[in-house]
Amino acid sequence: MATYVVTGAFGYSGRFITERLLALGHTVRTLTASPGRAHPFGQAVQVCPLDFARPDALERACAGADVLVNTYWVRFARAGFSQAAAVQNTRVLFAAATRAGVGRVVHVSVANPSLDSPYEYFRGKAQLESALQATGLPHTILRPAVLFGGPDILLNNIAWMQRRFPLFGVFGDGRYRLTPIHVGDLAELVVQEAAGTGERIVDAVGPETYTYSELVRTIGRAIGCERPLVGIPRWAGLAMASVLGWWLRDVVLTGPEIDALMDDLLVTDSAPTGSIALSEWLPAHAAELGVRYANELARRRDRATAYDSL
Ligand SMILES: NC(=O)c1ccc[n+]([C@@H]2O[C@H](COP(=O)([O-])OP(=O)(O)OC[C@H]3O[C@@H](n4cnc5c(N)ncnc54)[C@H](OP(=O)(O)O)[C@@H]3O)[C@@H](O)[C@H]2O)c1
Repeated sequence: MATYVVTGAFGYSGRFITERLLALGHTVRTLTASPGRAHPFGQAVQVCPLDFARPDALERACAGADVLVNTYWVRFARAGFSQAAAVQNTRVLFAAATRAGVGRVVHVSVANPSLDSPYEYFRGKAQLESALQATGLPHTILRPAVLFGGPDILLNNIAWMQRRFPLFGVFGDGRYRLTPIHVGDLAELVVQEAAGTGERIVDAVGPETYTYSELVRTIGRAIGCERPLVGIPRWAGLAMASVLGWWLRDVVLTGPEIDALMDDLLVTDSAPTGSIALSEWLPAHAAELGVRYANELARRRDRATAYDSL
């Protein structure tokens, strides 16, 4: 059995990864800035501070670990956090892991990262992939496009909107594509890759690719609220997202997120590495999908409540 350090074990993907590792009998320590967040693990997970101002404490937390699993990232910039800072912070974490001599790193990146991407998200992810490669630590980079299952944000909120509104606005022609992977399949990939050797890059993608319009219709049908789709220009979509965000006290979608989606960055042509098909998963989960809005900023404001309730 191995010792894992997992960032954000009480967050979204980190929680699924931790569940899987504990079920396999591994020891899990978490690095988290939300040590008081509700979680199902009792005393099974040792909690260490994810405090980038204390690299020595990060190093101590990584000491003796066979594997570091890194999920830490920020979705967009807001007062108090930014993707540039997340890049810098993650470099501090990688340096601490290197000094501690962790055996392997499994790093969760994103599909289609690029050092010259116009999008800070994809550029920052590419910078971190290079930074990890430069450490010389054996590693796997996992590149998911979009996650579903559990308290995900995108698919859940597409369902939430269809439950509440009579029409659904789709940016442009809606023909840009996504390849979702179930968060449990991502956890399984982490387990497989933790046992690997050398340096690997793996697209984390499920067995089905959807156009955005197909995805919205498929979700709508599954929850019994299939709405007419209305093509809207990017600016109108962004304006609606802003109004909704003001009402919900959240950032529903950002301009760069819409642009990256429309630029087909959430799809890859790689062979599937996840096995759970969204079309098969949906019917079994339709009753809970989109019943409550999943609020990214509430997850940042409230560090005590589990993501399922935020
Ligand atoms: N979700 C997706 O559809 C998706 C798609 C493609 C790639 N990915 C990648 O997968 C990885 C995990 O994503 P996830 O959705 O599972 O993320 P998550 O659980 O929401 O966040 C991962 C970790 O980052 C921390 N974090 C998030 N936003 C933060 C902020 N603004 N300030 C400080 N800490 C913050 C969380 O902290 P707390 O523990 O304090 O909450 C958590 O520990 C990320 O690297 C992401 O880029 C996700």
